[in-house]
Amino acid sequence: MEPQKARDLLANAELIHSESAVQSAFCEVAGRIRERLADKNPLVLCVMTGGVIFCGQLLPKLDFPLDFDYLHATRYGPETQGGKISWRMAPWTSVKGRTVLVVDDILDEGVTLAAVKESLMRLGAAEVLLAVFTDKQNGKNKPIAADFVGLPVPDRFVFGFGMDVDGAWRNLPAIYAMKEAG
Ligand code: IMP
Ligand code: MG
Repeated sequence: MEPQKARDLLANAELIHSESAVQSAFCEVAGRIRERLADKNPLVLCVMTGGVIFCGQLLPKLDFPLDFDYLHATRYGPETQGGKISWRMAPWTSVKGRTVLVVDDILDEGVTLAAVKESLMRLGAAEVLLAVFTDKQNGKNKPIAADFVGLPVPDRFVFGFGMDVDGAWRNLPAIYAMKEAG
């Protein structure tokens, strides 16, 4: 995105969760994850690209042995149609018999993470836990629930803290929503 377009977009956006709200929710959810996984020698899988900030901040908070890898699945890529999942990269590390923690930015309709979980279970994971920083309050019956959630977000297009709008503003420390049209 053109830098000026990105700046205009941000100037017209609405702040949903401030940086300090994000950080305090982050500390709380990181604590819950740390407790749950302390003796599991988990495999932590970052869902690229949106999961990168949550996961990058989370890893140094997990003070026990673990493995780390990433996967890339998206249903919004240019090559996808009709909400189909496109796999760009499967994890290299074997998930067989492991407790796997999948870390992503947002649970929207839940289609992506449901497909990811199913495929990791099929590959032999002992258990798959899902951590998302945000859960969209869209009133939909999601095919999957997250085990760990940082913050709820309204049923609008949101960005920041890993989430992008046309590739822009994943780097924001706070969470914004596009202004509603009209
Ligand atoms: P789901 O299959 O509907 O849960 O899609 C989840 C994926 O869609 C997330 O990992 C994001 O990449 C993307 N996504 C869904 N809603 C938003 C949003 O409001 N802002 C940015 N990305 C979103
Ligand atoms: Mg994503």
